[in-house]
Amino acid sequence: MKSLGLGILGSGKGSNCRAILERIRAGTLPAVARVVVSDVFDAPILGIAREFSVPHAYLPPGQFKTRLDLETETKLVEMLRDANVDLIVLAGFMRVLKTPMLEAFPRRIINIHPSLLPKFPGLEAWKQALTARETVTGCTVHYVDEKIDHGDIIAQRQVPVLRDDSAETLHARIQIAEHDLYPEAIAQLCAQRSS
Ligand code: GRF
Repeated sequence: MKSLGLGILGSGKGSNCRAILERIRAGTLPAVARVVVSDVFDAPILGIAREFSVPHAYLPPGQFKTRLDLETETKLVEMLRDANVDLIVLAGFMRVLKTPMLEAFPRRIINIHPSLLPKFPGLEAWKQALTARETVTGCTVHYVDEKIDHGDIIAQRQVPVLRDDSAETLHARIQIAEHDLYPEAIAQLCAQRSS
């Protein structure tokens, strides 16, 4: 099986990035992490990249809060091309990607979202599930398109909502499911691309 070169983008704690890097290190995910990029200078995800000896970079995000400006997004495309990535893995990346990235990497950018999409796109999806009194929620790995938390679904995992769940306990259980689902979904893409 050909191993896929990954570019991982994140803004925060990086627990999904860690799960992916652990699976690569254990030899159960045929991929190579080529670069980790963050738009947050002191994001823990950059420390995780360092810990696993993966090249990493801080990308100063520019003037906007929820997206990158054109120049910065074009620079990100260059960085990922230079790193020779096959697949871009969003792992808690809090900026909406626009044309430069979407056109440079069509159907090569994936994201994980903490709900069973198409239900509950947007922020704090686990709280949305609690408010809606769902009995089951979960997480979704999907291709990224121009809409937020939207695009063809690659894999999903259900997580039951327990009667005494708080936002914190539910979120924690969804994250445990994410840490298994994301590497598995990437492994599935590796298998598809080398067949
Ligand atoms: C995950 O819960 C994911 O669903 C969402 O952002 C969170 C990132 O968490 N897109 P982490 O940084 O991987 O811990």
